[in-house]
Amino acid sequence: PTFLKVKANALENPFYVGVAVKAHQLTEGSAYDEVLKNEFSSITAEYEMKMNPISTGSGSYNWEAADKIVNYGNDNGINVHGHALVWHNAVPDWLSNFSGTDTEFALEVKKFITDVVTRYAGKVRSWDVVNEAVDDNGNMRNTIFLQKMGPDYIKDCYQWARDAANTAGDTDLLLFYNDYATSTNIPKQDRVFSIVDDLKANNLIDGVGFQMHNTYLSPTKAQIETDINRAVALGLKVHVSELDIQVNQNNDITYLTEERALAQKEKYKEIVKIYNALPKANKYALTVWGFKDNESWIPYSTDLNHPGNDWPLLYNDKFELKKAHTGFLEGL
Ligand code: XIL
Repeated sequence: PTFLKVKANALENPFYVGVAVKAHQLTEGSAYDEVLKNEFSSITAEYEMKMNPISTGSGSYNWEAADKIVNYGNDNGINVHGHALVWHNAVPDWLSNFSGTDTEFALEVKKFITDVVTRYAGKVRSWDVVNEAVDDNGNMRNTIFLQKMGPDYIKDCYQWARDAANTAGDTDLLLFYNDYATSTNIPKQDRVFSIVDDLKANNLIDGVGFQMHNTYLSPTKAQIETDINRAVALGLKVHVSELDIQVNQNNDITYLTEERALAQKEKYKEIVKIYNALPKANKYALTVWGFKDNESWIPYSTDLNHPGNDWPLLYNDKFELKKAHTGFLEGL
């Protein structure tokens, strides 16, 4: 078989092929370990490098899972993308219930960002500093960070990340802004790019992460290109950061039919082609959000309105290659 990273590495303008991982998968000799080393050249922690699992209290941390993921990448020559320092869905209880002043709250956020970026300086190539700061109406999402720190919180977080990296001697750390549904939701896209523009004007951002939790019907090629090209126009790197492609968003099938499998294959191929056509300077990584269909977050997500079956990834439950995998290869 041809492996994804082998083909991606051989391109004229190569890029990383990434996968979201969980620490328990990274045991030498496991099926995940084998597939990962064959196929992928970058990893993102699916949740274990978010604030919630790491930050156990003010200035106290549980680094176990995060260390395991970072060390695995470093030991095996696999790129490590950090995800995510600030996200409204991963705020630890102690910080959600914080009773100090707003200034003290901001200092806690600063301390967290500084300590995490410092610990992994030189080991993590890039960080999503702020994740999903825009809501689906195109407004600034009304998070605890916005409420307590005001609209400049985004800039502050990027500045703190940059300062921590520079102080630790990592002047090459790439800082990303990451969000979802920007290709189809134009008010949201506009708001995201006003944030990104502003960060860029302050020299605080290196790239944009487009999550791409897509379906086999949407977004279209043109929608994706328009969205991504806004990052290219700003001279920023593009990370397709959480790719998966739903085939049962309307809950109308009970198993992965041949027809849907083929449609999904074409959609994987389309997005890989779009990514591959980017100029060299704008390429970074295209990351799929997990290994196997039965372990994907999609069927379990309460935000997505089809809490049933779906088959959004490249491998089936038995770790066999799907047509989607062939589509990915054909896009390279
Ligand atoms: C999801 C993970 O897949 C789940 O395992 C976790 O419980 C919740 O988060 N946008 C993001 C990701 O930026 O971090 C989310 O990942 C999916 C949506």
